[in-house]
Amino acid sequence: MRVRAARALRALRRIALVVPLVLTALALLLLPRPPPVDTPARVPSTPPPPPPPAPPVREDPPVQNSITDNNDADAVVHEVDEIAERPWFMRGGEKRPTSTDPHEGMFPEDAPGDDRIFQQLMYTLPKSDEAPIKKILLANGLGAWGVPAGRTEFIRNKCPVDRCSLTADAREAGNADAILFKDHHTPFNVRRPINQIWILYYLECPYHTASLRPTSLDVFNWTSTYRRDSDIVAPYEKFVYHDSLITGKELDRNYAANKTKKVAWFVSNCHARNRRLQYARQLSKYIDVDIYGACGAHHCPRTDPQCLEMLDKDYKFYLAFENSNCRDYITEKFFVNGLQHNVLPIVMGAKASEYAAAAPHNSYIHVEEFAGPEELATYLHRLDKDDNLYNSYFKWKGTGEFINTYFFCRVCAMVHANDRRHRTGHYTDVQSWWREGACTRGDWRAAERDNG
Ligand SMILES: *[C@@H]1O[C@H](CO)[C@@H](O)[C@H](O)[C@H]1NC(C)=O
Ligand SMILES: *[C@@H]1O[C@H](CO)[C@@H](O)[C@H](O)[C@H]1NC(C)=O
Repeated sequence: MRVRAARALRALRRIALVVPLVLTALALLLLPRPPPVDTPARVPSTPPPPPPPAPPVREDPPVQNSITDNNDADAVVHEVDEIAERPWFMRGGEKRPTSTDPHEGMFPEDAPGDDRIFQQLMYTLPKSDEAPIKKILLANGLGAWGVPAGRTEFIRNKCPVDRCSLTADAREAGNADAILFKDHHTPFNVRRPINQIWILYYLECPYHTASLRPTSLDVFNWTSTYRRDSDIVAPYEKFVYHDSLITGKELDRNYAANKTKKVAWFVSNCHARNRRLQYARQLSKYIDVDIYGACGAHHCPRTDPQCLEMLDKDYKFYLAFENSNCRDYITEKFFVNGLQHNVLPIVMGAKASEYAAAAPHNSYIHVEEFAGPEELATYLHRLDKDDNLYNSYFKWKGTGEFINTYFFCRVCAMVHANDRRHRTGHYTDVQSWWREGACTRGDWRAAERDNG
């Protein structure tokens, strides 16, 4: 009931905001020159029109970023309140953690299947407790992480748990509380204290990480990777709803408008492990696929921002194909190139269920929803003809945001929480955890058939 009332209130507020804007937009249309408009942050501005041709006719009023222009002070105040109630790690959010219970869903065994990022960011130490500063040694140096030594990283990010200090000094190996190893295990020549936590961090997927020595397999207490079952999950991006009950809203624009092209793909590595190139070539038999880069006929230098702008303006679909099909492996290709442009991403990489866990609701198409490229193309043609259906994939926009997951804040929180719980544990074979069953060279359906 409260939800519905809140929603109705929001809708009313939106109407109240939009009406004056529509009128303003109409008035501006009558002016001889195109007016300067607030451009929404993620949409590239239209280049200024050259002098001779008439200014373009604006179909949609520029409503998106103009909320601050209106004089409905009440609504604005309300909106600000609502934003301030969001957790501290969201834009404008001011809500600080109150939970001091280290058993509240921070560790993998507490919440299987969950990435626990929220719980880790919303944990704090009891106020009365003058907890000791935990020393975290970065085995690969500070530069590998782009952070300064000492407590700066925790203080400047206003970490709820900031009683940690970073060092890259190998002489601290004998008394650090935790050691963070990036990609490799570089042993230190000192005795390991019994409570010292060793963390193995991987950014890349198993095909692109080196094997560990046999003596390094059973020494790590925690992992930190993009995988959701890592102790400290470090995803490429994380989307969080502003209100978990509102996963879609009515659109104030048509995402199909003006688009004349079908499928775009940017690719430089033509020999990926999941045969994505063959899939794209097959697909191109049934629908136009413009392949940019080394493996295709189209060219657009990576550094040119106009390349990605084409995704906003010209293309309906974007192939966000990862170079490997590995568990939970979903990179910027999807989150940034795809979701953060006005284009519908078609994904290949992790399993369909893993995309569903990480992505906003109804924001993409997974290739394995279809028998193969031909059937996918048939559906894309249907979307191309049906603007309503196409637009249904964009209703999530504006319902949440991509957050900073404050990696080092969470490392610090976890080291303290672990201590307060007297929790111990380690991987007996971290390589088998990392590699076994984690990737497939073909599609996941085939892999599952073979295993079952
Ligand atoms: C479509 O093109 C027209 C004319 O250039 C422009 O005014 C309008 O904003 C465009 N619509 C979208 C959704 O980009
Ligand atoms: C860390 O792992 C080692 C084994 O490699 C184990 O002896 C130790 O108890 C673990 N410590 C913690 C705090 O989990």
